[in-house]
Formats: sequence, structure tokens, C-alpha cells
Amino acid sequence: MRLEGKVAAVTGAGSGMGRAIALAFAREGAKVVVADLNPSAGQGVVDEIAAGGGEAIATETDVRKQADAQTMVDAAVERFGGLDILVNNAGVGKIIPFLETTNEDWDFMFDVNCKGLLWCSQAAARQMIAQGRGGKIINLASQAGRRGEALVLAYCASKACVISMTQSIALALAPHKINVNGIAPGIVDTPFWVEVDKQFANLLGMEVGEPKRTFSASIPLGRIEQPEDVTGAAIFLASSDSDYMTQQTINVDGGNWPG
Ligand SMILES: NC(=O)c1ccc[n+]([C@@H]2O[C@H](COP(=O)([O-])OP(=O)(O)OC[C@H]3O[C@@H](n4cnc5c(N)ncnc54)[C@H](O)[C@@H]3O)[C@@H](O)[C@H]2O)c1
Repeated sequence: MRLEGKVAAVTGAGSGMGRAIALAFAREGAKVVVADLNPSAGQGVVDEIAAGGGEAIATETDVRKQADAQTMVDAAVERFGGLDILVNNAGVGKIIPFLETTNEDWDFMFDVNCKGLLWCSQAAARQMIAQGRGGKIINLASQAGRRGEALVLAYCASKACVISMTQSIALALAPHKINVNGIAPGIVDTPFWVEVDKQFANLLGMEVGEPKRTFSASIPLGRIEQPEDVTGAAIFLASSDSDYMTQQTINVDGGNWPG
């Protein structure tokens, strides 16, 4: 087990990739704080972890609130004695064309995807620095952060921001032996893409389900990504195997984006 004795907090862990990462970390021996805006979804994942013989607690966490980020870290310390790993996974997206993007759209995506990442990383880093035994921070970026899209301006910009923040936080925390890296998934079959599919279908005059089918058809590895496809990279970045790696964002997207 590669994460034996470690304590991890995963934001947005009630669904999709956050859930898959929380379950995978628990299987690798980590104790997990399942932090989500939706407490019943979080508790469901805690129950799944317990059913598999692991240990986890749920916190009702809105990453946009600094106090909630601190409460998540405090819960890890109170229940499990510290914090070694943070996964900034909570994220939201909306498909909205450039000329129609509103102040609310921009704030919706940047508040969760970027500001939330900042508050959670600060709270976790302060705890990791005080512990003096290093740590790991893993940020969920996206292929959307690698390039622009006419219909996806704000989400693409927010995920480019995640890649940039990963670099800055990595440099700030390198003296403390805290590694900060990212994962950039492609088109992942989660509840997130159910909504994205509907929004693309509406804008492109397609049937619901058609955008997901069409966009997935060109993935070089020949199938849509599943939440479990990112867990190998997440375990690697959370484990000592990645101790000499920081500032990097790894594409885990079936070869969809080359850079
Ligand atoms: N699905 C994809 O195709 C895809 C691709 C690349 C990157 N991503 C990114 O990966 C991450 C996970 O995506 P997913 O598809 O698993 O999403 P999902 O919608 O399945 O799950 C997101 C979870 O985050 C929670 N959440 C939302 N706002 C929150 C907040 N303010 N505070 C705390 N929790 C909050 C939700 O309650 C939900 O449980 C996101 O950052 C997303 O942007 C997704």
C-alpha cells in the first residue's frame, strides 16, 4: 500500500473523479477527509470507504469559503492527527460563448476553480509546514487549460489559471518539501459532462448525448475517460515516488492533447 499512514483531504469528493480518488487513496492505506459542498454525497463516499475496510470522514465544505477550508484541515488534524495530502478537485464549468459570458459566469467558475484552490492550499500548506514532514498538493486542471475554445472562454481560462497556480504554489512550498503538481484530464464520463453535453447540444443544435459521442470519437485511445483513469496519476503524485517532481501538470486524457 503506497499511502499507508498518510492523511488526505479531497475536495469535491462526493462525485466523479474526487470520489474515485478518495476511494483509491483509501485502498492505498490513506485516511481520507471527503470534503464536498453536498454533505450527503460526501457521506455516501465515506460509507463506501468504510465498507471497503478504510477510514474516512465527511466535511461539508464550500471551497469558496476560507473558514470552510480551515475547518476541513482542522477535521483532518482532530480526527487523524495531521494532513499529508490535499487534492484540489472541486470544480465547476459552464459552456458559454465569449460574447455571452457574464460577470456571474466568470465569478462562478473562478470562485470555485481558482479562489477555492487558493484557500484550500493555504490552509493545508500552513498545517503541512507546521508539521515539518513535507506534503503533497494535487490540483485538477483540464485539457481546457491547455488551449482556448470559442464556447468555453471562462472555464478554459480558469483551468489555465489552475496550471499557473500549481507552478506558483510549487515554488512557494518547495523549501518545505511540499510537492505541488496537477492532473489535466480530457473528456471524463462524470455528472459534470452530463451538464456540459446538454449545454453544448443547445449551443450547437445537436441532440443531447451527441456532443459527448462526437467529441469522444476522436480520442486517440479510443474511448471516453472514466473517473478511475486519473487515480493512477493521483496515487503517484500523492506517494513518495514523485518526491523529486513539482510544478508539473500531467495530461491524463487518452492522448487527446499533445502538449
Ligand atoms: N468531467 C470532465 O470531463 C473533466 C475534465 C477535466 C477536468 N475536470 C475537472 O475535474 C474536477 C472534477 O470534475 P468531475 O467531472 O469529477 O465533477 P463532478 O461534477 O462529478 O463532481 C464535482 C464535485 O464537486 C463538488 N463541488 C462543486 N462546487 C463545490 C464547492 N464550491 N466546494 C466544494 N465542493 C464543490 C460537487 O458537489 C461535486 O460533488 C473538476 O475540477 C473539473 O473541472 C473535469
